[in-house]
Amino acid sequence: MNILSIETSCDETSAAVVENGTDILSNVIATQIEFHQKYGGIVPEIASRKHIEVISPIIQQALDKANIQFSDLDAIAVTYGPGLVGALLVGVCAAKAIAYSLKIPLIGVNHLEGHICANFLSRRVEVRFPFICLIVSGGHTSLVLVKGHGEYQTIGRTRDDAAGEVFDKISRFLGLGYPGGPIIDEMSRKGNPSAIDFPRAMMDKEYGYDFSFSGIKTAVVNHVKKWPVSSCRYSIEDLLSSFQEAVVDVLVEKSICAAKEHNIRTIALAGGVSCNSRLRTKMLERGSAEEIKIIFPAPILCTDNAAMIACAGYFWFKKGITSSWDLKAVANLEI
Ligand code: KG4
Ligand code: ZN
Repeated sequence: MNILSIETSCDETSAAVVENGTDILSNVIATQIEFHQKYGGIVPEIASRKHIEVISPIIQQALDKANIQFSDLDAIAVTYGPGLVGALLVGVCAAKAIAYSLKIPLIGVNHLEGHICANFLSRRVEVRFPFICLIVSGGHTSLVLVKGHGEYQTIGRTRDDAAGEVFDKISRFLGLGYPGGPIIDEMSRKGNPSAIDFPRAMMDKEYGYDFSFSGIKTAVVNHVKKWPVSSCRYSIEDLLSSFQEAVVDVLVEKSICAAKEHNIRTIALAGGVSCNSRLRTKMLERGSAEEIKIIFPAPILCTDNAAMIACAGYFWFKKGITSSWDLKAVANLEI
């Protein structure tokens, strides 16, 4: 069964063809980063316009790379939220038009569910339920108990900034570029993670599995204002590495604690921040010490892509659940 999927929730226009839920035939991703870079973050209006410009050629490329035609498709899956509403609308309208003209089912997919499902793609060994999924992206930071396909229970979420958002904001504050995550990840390799003791917020039991990252952002800003990088009291790499370590510590410890308390032996990572090399290493170390299996998708499947949307759509289709023609873009859709 071939699903064509479309993802336009933020600043990537992506289309993919996935066979039987998990075999990726094509996964074309056009990033808009260069158009947003000079603003230090995503400009929603620019995002919508750029999606409109490239959506048709990207879909055609996905079909060409998969070596199939529109007539070979069995269903269309599309992200309908959460995300930027104008950006989502472009994908939803394109998906509806194709599905309607081909008379095949339309499947609306939650973007966060897509990130979780990236863990099922191109995997030889089956992922066993239940597992805990740490979703860490530019817009979200959540711990989700995944009991089965489509069975999710959010057990913790950020009360303010998302983890990726903080990487991006610190990078912008220091004039390092956008998106900040990969830049900070790379520069941190040459720094000392214990150079500066930044706060690890909400680690007390009373906060459960919720996160807060706005405090560490302020702590970094205050530190740099008090002792500018030019004061030579520390290197920029030490600053970044110490910041990253504090964020990673909180993500890892809360995930491990959630798995232990729910007696779950697998933690999956998802979302753009799960590309972070320190997060992966530390999660694997702690997982091995606690005998908890840690899994994560290939980096290209961690950041926004359409293949993960096809995978999530496939499991809804198998359950006989598809969307109606009045599917709407929902900016603040919950999982
Ligand atoms: O999942 P994603 O592509 O888009 C959203 O759904 O938000 O995630 C993008 C986020 C950005 O904030 C980016 O800085 C962050 O993921 N990111 C990283 C890394 N690669 C991407 N953060 C930390 N380390 C990385 N290596
Ligand atoms: Zn995402």
